[in-house]
Amino acid sequence: MQRQEQTGLPIRYVDRGEGPVLVLLHGFVGSADYWERVVPLLEGHFRCIVPDLRGHGESEAPEGPYTIEQLADDVLNLLDALGIEQVVLLGHSMGGYTALSFAERYPERLRAFGLVHSMPLPDDVAGKEKRTAVAERVLREGTKPFVEQSAPNWFAPNAATRMPAELDRVLQIGYGTKPVGAAGAALAMRERPDRGHVIRDSQLPILLIAGSEDGIAPPEKAFAAENAHTSKFVIEGSGHMSLFEAPQELARHIASFAESL
Ligand code: MLT
Repeated sequence: MQRQEQTGLPIRYVDRGEGPVLVLLHGFVGSADYWERVVPLLEGHFRCIVPDLRGHGESEAPEGPYTIEQLADDVLNLLDALGIEQVVLLGHSMGGYTALSFAERYPERLRAFGLVHSMPLPDDVAGKEKRTAVAERVLREGTKPFVEQSAPNWFAPNAATRMPAELDRVLQIGYGTKPVGAAGAALAMRERPDRGHVIRDSQLPILLIAGSEDGIAPPEKAFAAENAHTSKFVIEGSGHMSLFEAPQELARHIASFAESL
């Protein structure tokens, strides 16, 4: 566990392995720990840099609202502080929204990028209202009730009986998110624009991974934009959380994509 404080907001990150650099971004109310079952499967061949995004884990949680652009800029500052020029950037869900913002503005810093259970589409009107409600709720009640209610729905059905340890781990990570951080990030997601053009216009290789049982970013949304350099995979039976539900299959897709570059 390390911390970058040279420029911008202090960011805690995990730095494991050696080789071509993979930067792995977590989703909403997650942390670097979201990747804890995947990194051990990749670190033999890649250097994995896994930050806690602004407002999450042990990184700083300033007053929000945040923007997705700020989350992406924190990643840029981290790469600058580490002296890393080019990476493969992969983001889970909110981390995917962040990866798209990064790819839109800093493509020269990427060898490739990818979305894991994420999508280029913005929130619709009802979705934006839910974000506002989530931000107000976590500030009012703390993060725990929201995470307790939501996390079981991020997995494919019956997670509590099929994979109680994995569900419990996701709950514990979520409970650790500071309310001000969760609220700031919910409002950042509310304001994110459509970034389909980032995928359609990119000259970079792109990896898109969806879960067949994902209710948040189902395959039709995850694959809403593509181009000739896009590799698409559906993890059968996985919900929104293949990082916990199918880490081996997820790591296999990431490794073979990154090795092919
Ligand atoms: C996430 O996992 O980051 C969120 O579920 C994404 C979202 O709500 O759009």
